[in-house]
This record gives sequence, structure tokens and C-alpha cells, in this order.
Amino acid sequence: MTIQTNNLFSEAIQNYQVKTTDRGLVRYVNLDNAATTPALASVEQAVQEYIASYGSVHRGAGVKSKVSTDVYEASRDTIKRFVNAPEDAYVLFTGNTTGAMNTVAYYFSFLSGKVAVSSIEHSSSWLPWVKTEGIKALGSEQVALDDMESVNEHIQLAGRKQVLQYSVNENFEFDLADIEKLLKEHDIKAFVLTASSNATGYCPDIKAIGQLVHKYGAYFIVDACQFVQHHTMDMQELGIDFLAASGHKFYAPYGGGFLIGPKKFFDNFLSYEIGGGNLPYITKDGEFLRYTNQLAHDPGTPNAIGAISMASAFEALEDIGIEQVEAYEHGLAKQVYDYLKNNSKIELYVNDNHLSTVVPFNVKGINFTDVAEELNSRFGIGVRAGSFCVYNVIRQVLDIQDETKIIEDVKAGKEDAVPGFIRASFALCNTQEDVDRFIEAMEEITK
Ligand SMILES: Cc1ncc(COP(=O)(O)O)c(C=O)c1O
Repeated sequence: MTIQTNNLFSEAIQNYQVKTTDRGLVRYVNLDNAATTPALASVEQAVQEYIASYGSVHRGAGVKSKVSTDVYEASRDTIKRFVNAPEDAYVLFTGNTTGAMNTVAYYFSFLSGKVAVSSIEHSSSWLPWVKTEGIKALGSEQVALDDMESVNEHIQLAGRKQVLQYSVNENFEFDLADIEKLLKEHDIKAFVLTASSNATGYCPDIKAIGQLVHKYGAYFIVDACQFVQHHTMDMQELGIDFLAASGHKFYAPYGGGFLIGPKKFFDNFLSYEIGGGNLPYITKDGEFLRYTNQLAHDPGTPNAIGAISMASAFEALEDIGIEQVEAYEHGLAKQVYDYLKNNSKIELYVNDNHLSTVVPFNVKGINFTDVAEELNSRFGIGVRAGSFCVYNVIRQVLDIQDETKIIEDVKAGKEDAVPGFIRASFALCNTQEDVDRFIEAMEEITK
């Protein structure tokens, strides 16, 4: 599948030059798209146009305020359409997926029941639950001033009892029977799943898992941060109640993210953040009246540019066609995968069935950070090396049974003791030439 990528990004982005030791001045090859993506040219343009008419959103009576508010509000509809959210769903704007997960975890902390989080979840989709559930479980139990240091420990201990983990099996897949057992044996209120692993690209069977979650009356919360930019997302078809994603991962790096969820859920709660702009009136007794619409969850002056940039990116992806995007990116990743698979110096951590746009690997006998540094300094290729905020995945993939030494080292300040691997991740900004450059560089590094 070929897509004309050369007009999707600005000249400045496409031809960003870097100095290398081996190749002199070269065009930078960005294979770190699972971390963040460059802005699409159309997104940059939409932002420029919006800036011309930018005025106070939701507040002013002037033309700029009205235009800015209309465009901002319309962006919610575009986002809803792109992920086929239910008609009455709310789109709440957040800073990123981390913000979205902290928001939804906060609301759930008022409800009884436990939370189930997968073992391959990014820490952003796991720790907010531990924290909010921990704070809630501690209730009115407060620590003495001279025992302040124990606060975090208390919260973590209490939170971990409330947040259960379900795991992938030895094939790195979820077992529906295990999930059903968990749902049957515990009163689960919120079930959290990543739509695509940030470390391996594995995409679980969202629909089948969602059906089980609903069978046992829990809400289904999906982290689509690594998914929406590569695959078709259909919240209604997949039975997703809450969906989270970050604009910077889908070509809209302007500080926006979103959380989509049911109106009937959100309307029950005071907003996660509260202050000005998201309530109609405060009585003289201090009672604040509430909206029963999305505005109630839109405190302060919003990041309108973040919102409109996300809508603009989704419009661009709609124009290209997400199936085409998927086929194009997979085609590039597959070539790299095939090359690495046939290189005896490489340990590859994904298989054919799970391969999407991410290729995780190590070079035998060379530290992963050194390989990443060589790719950068010698060849002008950017990848990520590390543990990707998914320590369970790292332990499983690298078969680490005993972590005593790692803990000791990290506590002693040796952060490079944390195990990890290298991730080459593909997106629309990549070309055949990028693949060729990467393969050529890996040939040199492993020769
Ligand atoms: C699967 C997944 N979830 C959540 C996050 C957190 O996203 P953000 O840093 O945009 O909040 C990431 C970031 O890498 C991710 O890959």
C-alpha cells in the first residue's frame, strides 16, 4: 500500500537534518512514533487559522469569542464521529491519556466495587486507579503531621487491594476464561484494557473482552492511545463505555487529550476539576448549581487549540482512510520485522500474529540504550530504548524471575539497572527510505 506521504507533513518536518558521525548531515528518521508524532501539515494550518480568530471560549460576547467557541465545540463532534461514540456520549478534554485516566478513576472512586487493570497496561492507565482507590479506601483515616512520610505508602497499600490485575498468558494473549473467572469472583466496577500495547503493538480482542465485562455489569474503559491513529476505532461496535487518547500520538501535538464516556454517568458527579466556567450559578449560601451537559466538565479556560488540532487530525485521517493508514504502516513495520527476524544477532519480542506498527527487539550482547544511541549518533535514526512504563511486560518478555538486584540498584540511584529493549515504531511520517536506512544501520551495528 502506498500513500503519498510527502505532502502530509511540512517540508521542515520531513527534511529535518541532523549531524551524524558516520554519515555526515542526514535527514532525521523518526522511528519513535509510539512516543509522539509530528504535527500533520493540515493540523498546523488549522491551528494557524484558529489563532487568527482566537478569542475567549465560552465567555465573551464578541465575534472572536463566538467563532472560537463554535469551532471548539464542533471539535467534540468530529472526535465522536471518528471513534463512532454513542450519540449522547460526552467528550471531555484532558491534557493527555494520563489526564483522561486520572479523571475517570476519580469518578469511579465514589462507587463501590473493585477495578481490574491488565498486566500490559501503561502505568498511566493503572496508577491513577491505585491512587484514587487508595485515597478513597483510606477514607477519613488521616495521618499525623509527624508521620507525613507514610502517606504515599498508605495510599499505595490501600489502593493495591482495590485494583486487581489480570494477565496475558505465555503467548502474550488474554485468556477469556481467566477474565471471566476474575469478573465472576469479584465485584468489578471498572475494567481497564489497552487497545494496543505500547511496547509490543499487540491488539487484544476488545469486543470479546467487552462482552464479558458487560455480562458481569462492569464499565469497560479502553486506553486507545496507541490505537486510534493506526486502526479503526468503533466504540459502539466494540462496546466501549469510556475511551481515552492523546492528541500528540495522532499528529496533533498541542497539549490535548480526551476522555469519552456516557452522559448518564458523568451527570451524576461534580467535575473532577472545578472552579470557573463550568457551573451556571453559586447561591449566597455557597451552593453551586450544576449543568447537565459537557460544559460541567470543562473547568477554566480550555485548551481550545488542543481540541481543534485533534479534530483536524482526525479529519485528515478520515480523508486518507484509516484502513489505508493501517496497511501502509504495517507494510513498513513488516519489512523491519522480517529483517530483524532473520538477523541472528537480534532478539525479537513480537511475532507475526501480533505485529502491528511497533517492532520491539534487543541486540544480543549490546545494551539497549547503547544501540539506540548508536542509531542516533551514527545514523540519525531516533528510536526509543527503555522500559516504556510497562514493567510487567518487560519482566515477562525478558523472562525476569528475580528482580531483587534491580530493586537494590534502582534504590541506590542506578537507573540504568532497569531492564528494557528497543522499540522502532512506525507512523504516516515514515517512508520506504526510512526502512532502508534503518536496515542498513542495523546491518552495520550487528556486523
Ligand atoms: C498505551 C499508553 N497509554 C497511556 C500513555 C500515556 O499517554 P500520555 O503520556 O499522552 O498521557 C501512553 C504513552 O506512551 C501509552 O502508550
